[in-house]
Amino acid sequence: MTEYTYEFRPGLEGVPVAKSSISYVDGQRGILEYRGINIEELAQKSTFLETAYLLIWGKLPTREELNRFQEDINRHRRIKYQIRDMMKCFPETGHPMDALQTAAAALGLFYSRKAQLEEEYIREAVVRLLAKIPTIVAAFAQIREGNDPVQPKENLNYAANFLYMLTEREPEPLEARIFDVCLMLHAEHTMNASTFSAMVTASTLTDPYAVVASAVGTLAGPLHGGANEEVLLMLEEIGSVKNVRPYIEHCIENKKKIMGFGHRVYKVKDPRAKILQQLAERLFELTGYDEYYEIALEVERVVEEKLGHKGIHANVDFYSGLVYRKLGIKPDLFTSMFAIARVAGWLAHWKEQISYNRIFRPTQIYVGEHNLPYIPIDERS
Ligand code: CMC
Repeated sequence: MTEYTYEFRPGLEGVPVAKSSISYVDGQRGILEYRGINIEELAQKSTFLETAYLLIWGKLPTREELNRFQEDINRHRRIKYQIRDMMKCFPETGHPMDALQTAAAALGLFYSRKAQLEEEYIREAVVRLLAKIPTIVAAFAQIREGNDPVQPKENLNYAANFLYMLTEREPEPLEARIFDVCLMLHAEHTMNASTFSAMVTASTLTDPYAVVASAVGTLAGPLHGGANEEVLLMLEEIGSVKNVRPYIEHCIENKKKIMGFGHRVYKVKDPRAKILQQLAERLFELTGYDEYYEIALEVERVVEEKLGHKGIHANVDFYSGLVYRKLGIKPDLFTSMFAIARVAGWLAHWKEQISYNRIFRPTQIYVGEHNLPYIPIDERS
């Protein structure tokens, strides 16, 4: 019998579960790199699809490689009518993340089940998932309003096409660019809960649609991707700048988490939160001021004052909701925006995982009893 003497770390804090060259976080200095390139530089110079390519294939694409990748994705944006019809049967009150998880898993019904290590299989799965996940999100958003899904538009780029399918309006170039940057910022973040979930699923060598579906389910929770929706609900509940201080003090006294703050790794302000805040300000110049921004700034000031010394600062979810709200996206769709982007990171980890795969099979520390008798039902108290 194998005896394990490892220390139990709740939440696996500090326990490495992989060797990876996809991304890197320095939580003390607030640095995030994708394949060694700083996120701030990517946010200024790259696009989401180029960044997805970088994450998945480990290098920036040549112009030719990028063109082919974009063309392939454009060709696969449509979803099968059976998936659309299936979504028409979903309750319109259902959460968009549940709809996305179901539809992502359903893609696996149409394509090959068993993951293969062949480059062509990987490429096809990557293209299909990156192409179809935004279409699924936009389609459910339309269907639940009683509308038919809007078909993808050939001449629009990835971000612009998604906003078009969601709102039936072609976005301004700045709106599309800002959304594209949001996707880049959310594309990957080392070993977080949904990525770990993706990797555990991937390690069984099931298909990549199941990998993405399991990750979507994990991302949906309020302690992970669901926090951006909760941030907006919190700002709504606070209602005005003068209510901020008593609200935050009440949360702290009652040990209630303040959404959009704190991070397992970052002990300074999340670099993505800084960029998102700048993007929000650029959007306000284009589309008008948002009254929630004043409230958000005051929330950040008070949380810094009360909890900054504990290393609790704004995380990626704090300002993303304000940007999405200005782009006309409903709060219960915010986490789906995160999912659209994170598909790139999940697939990068899937590809890395299957290249050296060993099934995840951790252990546990059994704290129950042994050798108890079976008590017949009539004798139980
Ligand atoms: N508000 C108030 N106190 C907090 C917060 C917060 N947002 N975050 C952490 N703390 C306190 C917590 O109460 C605890 O205090 P004490 O030591 O006195 O008991 C201490 O900080 C450590 O907290 P923890 O929950 O043990 O830390 P963790 O590393 O397990 O959790 C976290 C990290 C992100 C789940 C947590 O900070 C949190 O729940 N934040 C709010 C939800 C949120 O914004 N999530 C988005 C995370 S970033 C994007 C993503 O991953 O999706």
